[in-house]
Amino acid sequence: MTTLLVLAIAGLACYLLLVLFSPMGRGAIYEPSDRAQTALIAEMARVEPGDLAADLGSGDGRVVIALARAGAQAHGYEVNLYLVLLSRLNIRRAGLAGRAFIHWKSFWRASFEDFQVVTTFQVGVIMARLEAKLAGELAPGARIVSHHWRFPTLPIVEYRQDVYLYRPR
Ligand SMILES: C[S@@+](CC[C@H](N)C(=O)[O-])C[C@H]1O[C@@H](n2cnc3c(N)ncnc32)[C@H](O)[C@@H]1O
Repeated sequence: MTTLLVLAIAGLACYLLLVLFSPMGRGAIYEPSDRAQTALIAEMARVEPGDLAADLGSGDGRVVIALARAGAQAHGYEVNLYLVLLSRLNIRRAGLAGRAFIHWKSFWRASFEDFQVVTTFQVGVIMARLEAKLAGELAPGARIVSHHWRFPTLPIVEYRQDVYLYRPR
């Protein structure tokens, strides 16, 4: 009985580690923005009614929810299935079904050319590649808001409390 319990706990720990570190190489592991940072990200994105907004690596959906509450049609891209299901539940609980959506998909395999707002809380090693992707895809006037991590060459338009705003064109 004790052996079974130990095996079950070890199996669960391995599974959780696997899930947590699954994005390695493609992006950041899960670490949520806190409440104040989430609000600031949505504020600095300067969402206008009808904007299309995307959170790249959407975690439990908190930024997607904040963007939808600000008036955007908000889309989250997330590779961790557990977080995809949790964020869809959070969106339903927030009453935002139809205005906020979560895609179980790597943001590297999505195109953001129709989006006016992109938010991200990723990791330093991917920022150059992400800058090239977004600068090539986003239309004039689009905003990028990055939590904590800076892009290597894009000029910073605004910086507040660990959050950066960019306008690539
Ligand atoms: C630091 S967390 C940020 C979560 C959320 N945006 C927030 O601010 O609370 C990064 C998230 O990105 C996800 N992620 C990493 N690489 C990804 C990729 N290539 N495509 C989609 N999601 C990815 C991780 O699973 C994780 O949930």
